[in-house]
Amino acid sequence: MKKILVLDACVRREESRTKKMLDRALETLKEVHADWEFEVLTLMDLDLKYWNTESLKARDELLAKKAYDAPVFAYGRQFQQADGIIVAAPFWDLSVPAVLKVYIENVSADGVTFGCNEQGLYGLCKAQWMLFLTTRGGVWEGSDMEQGGSYMEALCQFFGIDTYYHIYADGLDMVDLDGKAILEAALDEVEHVCRGL
Ligand SMILES: Cc1cc2nc3c(=O)[nH]c(=O)nc-3n(C[C@H](O)[C@H](O)[C@H](O)COP(=O)(O)O)c2cc1C
Repeated sequence: MKKILVLDACVRREESRTKKMLDRALETLKEVHADWEFEVLTLMDLDLKYWNTESLKARDELLAKKAYDAPVFAYGRQFQQADGIIVAAPFWDLSVPAVLKVYIENVSADGVTFGCNEQGLYGLCKAQWMLFLTTRGGVWEGSDMEQGGSYMEALCQFFGIDTYYHIYADGLDMVDLDGKAILEAALDEVEHVCRGL
């Protein structure tokens, strides 16, 4: 049985277009893989904290002792153990909402999700793939300024996740574009990709 970790950073919740993509992904995967287990983390509901001076020092002391079973690494252990990861987050300020960045801070730990040796950094995560779902107000396809999808792709490399799927609906807030049709096309793509996972 595969364990799929689902990270929901759709801050607008039921109003979110990105959440519609996530719902379609889950519907499809549950239909195709009745035996897969889905662990859904609604990031807005977690008591996630970014590292401050004191909490980072405390975490680093645990890392130095290799105390990886400490509660502070629980999200990291869960992330490391997942067989596949789905992330749904809208495009905010050229990147992703802060709640997702804070979650990443919490899972990113030397010895938990990545390692380091003389050759450099290497990933420790079990997941074979990450599926990143997003919607964007403007059209950003191919732009170097787009730092949401490219950030998640870089994280896959960092954590040792070999395959990265990125599905986006671009231009949803542009008045001269048909946002409804763009979203429908993205939902079809989500379904198509999920049927192949
Ligand atoms: C706080 C915030 C920041 C945003 N930043 C950008 C941006 O940098 N570029 C852009 O094209 N759209 C931006 N948008 C628009 C969203 O990307 C767009 O509305 C998206 O579809 C929202 O997804 P949702 O419906 O899932 O909430 C921003 C929206 C919000 C609320």
